[in-house]
Parts: sequence; structure tokens; C-alpha cells
Amino acid sequence: MKKINLSDKEFSLFIPSSDIRLTVKRMAERINVDYAGKEVVLLVVMNGAMIFASDLIRKLKISARISCVKISSYQGMHSSGNISQEIEFDREALRGKHVIVAEDIVDSGVTMEYLVRELKMARPSSIAIATLLSKPLSFTGQSLKLHYVGYEIPNCFVVGYGMDYNGLGRQYEDIYKTT
Ligand code: IMP
Ligand code: MG
Repeated sequence: MKKINLSDKEFSLFIPSSDIRLTVKRMAERINVDYAGKEVVLLVVMNGAMIFASDLIRKLKISARISCVKISSYQGMHSSGNISQEIEFDREALRGKHVIVAEDIVDSGVTMEYLVRELKMARPSSIAIATLLSKPLSFTGQSLKLHYVGYEIPNCFVVGYGMDYNGLGRQYEDIYKTT
């Protein structure tokens, strides 16, 4: 079993890149159908979703733009509950647009609920969420709908393919989980 070490922790292979590639393609195909004839703005939640979003947008056949927001709630391996937003929304770029939020992973859903609430103030014509991973067992977002989900996973901590442990591990093509 493939393993990696990031500072004090060991992680083992969870989802290989070949599998991720197919899943991202499938997500893009659904978006292509659902938004046929429309233009979308992919709102990338930095830093974690940058790899996922860059693969996803290259599979989109519809007209698409990119916008970024930088937000975080995680410290180490746990959600801090405090959300910090380091890059504000480009409201002009989002007003009247079909916005698809690209996220790496939805855990409790607190980050996404905050983001959607803020995003509504930019008055987009629609909002959808595309997340590569979701942890349904820790999800508390009552009114939050996840429109495109790549994988539902148990409550483990994962790294790779954009996701980090204390800033490390984003560059791996596969996804790893704590051993
Ligand atoms: P939530 O607010 O609890 O849903 O946490 C979501 C955010 O925490 C995501 O944007 C991720 O950046 C980060 N996160 C949640 N679970 C993990 C994980 O297993 N590995 C790495 N980052 C995670
Ligand atoms: Mg994230």
C-alpha cells in the first residue's frame, strides 16, 4: 500500500488518480447537460479546490469563467468553527451569473453555509455546489444542498489532490487518508 508522510503523520492511499480523473469527468458531464446553452462562473474555493477546479473546468464544454475566493475554517485536522475569508468575492463578476462553487471537501458544511450566505449578496442568478468529496456523517448543513458530489467518504482526514495537512500534501495526484 502506497504511503506518504507529512510532518508528524502517516497517510495511506485512498483514492487513486485514475479513479479521480473518471469521477471529475463524470461531474463535468452532468454540469454540461444541466447548464447546456448557458454560461457559468466556476467559483474556486482556494486553496484546497484549485486542483479539482482546474481539472473540472477543462472538461466543461459550456461557456465558463473562473472567479476565486479564499476561505478557511480548518486548523490541523479539525474544523475550527471560525471562518476566515482572505479574498473577497468579485461581486461584479458574479452578479446575474450562474455560479458553481468548486470545493474540495464538505465536512460539517459550516464553511459552505457561510460562503453561500455571503455569495447571495452578490446576487447571482443561480448557485450550485460541486464538491469532490463529502463527509455525510459529520454534515450539519440542514438547508444546504450539494448538487454535484464526487465521493461520499467516512469521517477520516484526507490529503492530496489539493487538500492539505497544515499546508502540506496538496501536490499529490492521489488522495490519501490517515492510517
Ligand atoms: P467544514 O466547514 O467543516 O465543512 O470544512 C470544510 C473545509 O475544511 C474544506 O474547505 C477543507 O478545506 C477543510 N477540510 C475538511 N475536511 C478535510 C480533510 O479531510 N482534509 C483536508 N481538509 C479538510
Ligand atoms: Mg476548502
